[in-house]
Amino acid sequence: MAAFFHAARCVTFGGEACKSGFMASHSSPRTVALLLAAGQGTRMKSSLPKVLHPLAGLPMVHHGVAAALDAGCSQVIVVVGHGRELVEAYLTKAFGERVSFALQPQQLGTGDAVRCGVAALPAGTERVLVFYGDAPLIEGTDLRALLGAEGALVLATCCLAAPFGYGRILRDEAGRVVAIREEKDCATAAERAITEINPGVYVFALEFLENSLAKLEPKNAQGELYLTDLVAIAAASGLDATPIAARAEVLVGCNDRAQLFEAELTLRERIHGRLRKSGVTVSAGALVDAGVVVEPDVAIGPNVVLRGNTLVKSGARLDVGCVLDNVTVERDAYLKPYTVAQDSVIGARAQVGPFAHLRPKSDLGADVHIGNFVETKNTKLAQGAKANHLAYLGDGVVGERVNIGAGTIFCNYDGFQKHLTIIEDDAFIGSDSQIVAPVTIGRGAYVGTGTTVTMSVPADGLALSRVKQENKEGYAVRLRARFKAAKEGKK
Ligand code: UD1
Ligand code: CA
Repeated sequence: MAAFFHAARCVTFGGEACKSGFMASHSSPRTVALLLAAGQGTRMKSSLPKVLHPLAGLPMVHHGVAAALDAGCSQVIVVVGHGRELVEAYLTKAFGERVSFALQPQQLGTGDAVRCGVAALPAGTERVLVFYGDAPLIEGTDLRALLGAEGALVLATCCLAAPFGYGRILRDEAGRVVAIREEKDCATAAERAITEINPGVYVFALEFLENSLAKLEPKNAQGELYLTDLVAIAAASGLDATPIAARAEVLVGCNDRAQLFEAELTLRERIHGRLRKSGVTVSAGALVDAGVVVEPDVAIGPNVVLRGNTLVKSGARLDVGCVLDNVTVERDAYLKPYTVAQDSVIGARAQVGPFAHLRPKSDLGADVHIGNFVETKNTKLAQGAKANHLAYLGDGVVGERVNIGAGTIFCNYDGFQKHLTIIEDDAFIGSDSQIVAPVTIGRGAYVGTGTTVTMSVPADGLALSRVKQENKEGYAVRLRARFKAAKEGKK
């Protein structure tokens, strides 16, 4: 049986597979990423930790970790606190040993979070890339731009027409970056009017970082230890920060659901744009999640939703409104409108729908036809098998070229256990049959319409369980007369 669950494919932003060759310049094991993800995310108003809120199908923090790995960081240390069990469980499952964790017991600010992270750095670390778990649009390419620059403190900056909520970049007359002022600490309207802001991505030389973290004090509006104060600390000791201009659209910090939605729109457009460039038709209203892989020359119809580890191979056509979650669609398959499928495989040239429901572990072979209002679950259909109308096929193994008539039901459940229905190659199941599992219908056997199959059928045999038909001449006339009289008697 084909694999229902793909081995965790390497997924980066926009669903692109990890680029090979990216490691060339920055792959030094001495650069470690610290991703800050300990905050509660009060503005989300949610019981789910902020960094686990999904963006294009993957938790925000997933995108950040993937970007850091893509940029060549040998290790990503995620600073966790609020909801740490959930965050750690997710990331360990998704990334294994490439992520580790540092605990920030109390959320005393981004500077304190970095202190906690630094304590967990492996020996030999020279440079530390620091960024935030709520900035999921940043990609490997953005991080590489910073990693490629030299200096004790390299930071991204960016200009925004509406800088509200972000830390402002303060420069001196010579244009040197001398401080970052948080919105809440801006002393003057002039400071608030500054449009150059801090997206929150930094590369520190470890020595500078350790020395200056020790100097942080919570002397600000929020009473926190601000990581951003390191810029002023550097300036005070005569060190120039190195600003790197960042892409404006990637810096959205997702603090609340409005910003999350904005980021979602951007990320979707990025994913869909890349797919279109690679030769995929992506119609209006379609939503392709970040973990999905679509090969060239696939047509994705209006309002199609592709989730999880879905893989769609060349030549496949997904018509209006299909929803696929962890599904492999083989070459040239045609999914007619409103096919819903989960954890399943759809074979080459198969035709499914409209209105078909493939529940987990449905494995459709090549050239299989599944028609309207057919539900399958844990059922394998071999090449060329057909169930074109109104059927429930649960816990079955169906052979090649088997034809399953309208209204057939695999009665797989006795209230306690599930049982298997086996139908061998070339068997024919007449309409409105119930197959009471466990049962085997032999190769080439025929099940007459309306049969309740309760025992196995031998190869090339015929199973019939219906009552023999009887015709009574003229009986309908007498019947009508009787019914009419009964009705008039009531008046
Ligand atoms: C921060 C920056 C601000 C910048 C903005 C960009 C500081 C002081 N401010 O503000 O200059 O413009 O990001 O989006 O750094 N976190 C912890 N532990 C803590 C506090 C926060 O791990 O004690 C984590 C949060 O989980 C979050 C990230 O750090 O992922 C940033 O914290 P947040 O409170 O969102 O900072 P902003 O107010 O957005
Ligand atoms: Ca933030």
